[in-house]
Amino acid sequence: MSVIKQHIVDLSAYKPPLEGRNPQAFTLLDFNERTTPVGHMIKQALHDYIDAGRLQMYPSYGDIAKRLADYSSVCEDQLMITNGSDQGIDLVFRAVSQSNSEAIIPSPSFAMYHQCAKVEAMSIVEPEYTPENGYPLNEVLSSITPNTKIIVVSNPNNPCGTLVSADAISVLAKAAPHAAILVDECYFEYSRETAVSLVNALPNLFITRTFSKTWGLPSLRFGYLISSPENITALCNVRGPYDVNQLAVVAAMAALDNPEYTKEYVDEVMLQSKPILEQWLDGQGIEYWPSRANYLWCFPDNPGQVESFLREQGFLVRPKSYQQKMGLRITVGTCEQTERLITVWGQFVQ
Ligand SMILES: Cc1ncc(COP(=O)(O)O)c(C=O)c1O
Repeated sequence: MSVIKQHIVDLSAYKPPLEGRNPQAFTLLDFNERTTPVGHMIKQALHDYIDAGRLQMYPSYGDIAKRLADYSSVCEDQLMITNGSDQGIDLVFRAVSQSNSEAIIPSPSFAMYHQCAKVEAMSIVEPEYTPENGYPLNEVLSSITPNTKIIVVSNPNNPCGTLVSADAISVLAKAAPHAAILVDECYFEYSRETAVSLVNALPNLFITRTFSKTWGLPSLRFGYLISSPENITALCNVRGPYDVNQLAVVAAMAALDNPEYTKEYVDEVMLQSKPILEQWLDGQGIEYWPSRANYLWCFPDNPGQVESFLREQGFLVRPKSYQQKMGLRITVGTCEQTERLITVWGQFVQ
């Protein structure tokens, strides 16, 4: 008999398909990552830190929280740094769950929410997103019970790119004052929409963000969480003092000092490259969900064959199903990458 809690033994790990993701062999359009390397100044800052001979020291984070608070227009005591936004998400689930508690996780969505809820043995309620109505607000509202401890708003949602308005988030938070409203703003720099202005008024609001996407640093694992000062103090009791890697902080500081590289990339992806892909999909009659992020979830005929064909031609995209129907989630990269993608895809013979 295992000494580990049975429900944890029975879980299956979240294992993203990382095998064979060689950036020399493929254009990686499968993980919603930035598709170009980060700027020289970030690599230089990392080199400088290592050359300064400080690797043997425990991390010391300096004024990173203040810098992020300024960037996010909140007070420093309303923010904490985390090891990727995955850690922020996990902290909130761990801090709010109790026996017999419920999580409302509209589906389909990012796998980590389920993982965290299951580790905490929460029951999961999953109202469904639809292409027509987006976030199932009314169903979420009617699913709230006294046992609801967390309601997830993935904003914009992965894989469909749907965005929820700040007004709707406020309605949810007021309808369930006994539950955490977890607003995942992983793709904030793409959508430019945020619930930050609600934090002062809503004590049950938790916002997670990351440097993994637009900032291009997923390998270093750096994120942050915004909430009321009381919530931040409590969550810091759960997070370890050194959970965030010092090199991640060095890179994030350099990124904040040089935000243009992110802005230029976001502008190219959202204002030029994504419209090119959307127009091409429209022309082919391939349906896709309206998306406010750097990815499009589309539903070609023969998605499996399209995915294999694109792979053979050097493009990785991500199969994701909806109601038994397979779709392909495609990360939008630069204009040049999108042009190459559609040229290659256009050669696919069904
Ligand atoms: C919606 C969403 N939230 C969070 C994450 C995790 O981000 P991080 O690398 O900051 O842990 C992802 C990663 O794909 C995501 O799509």
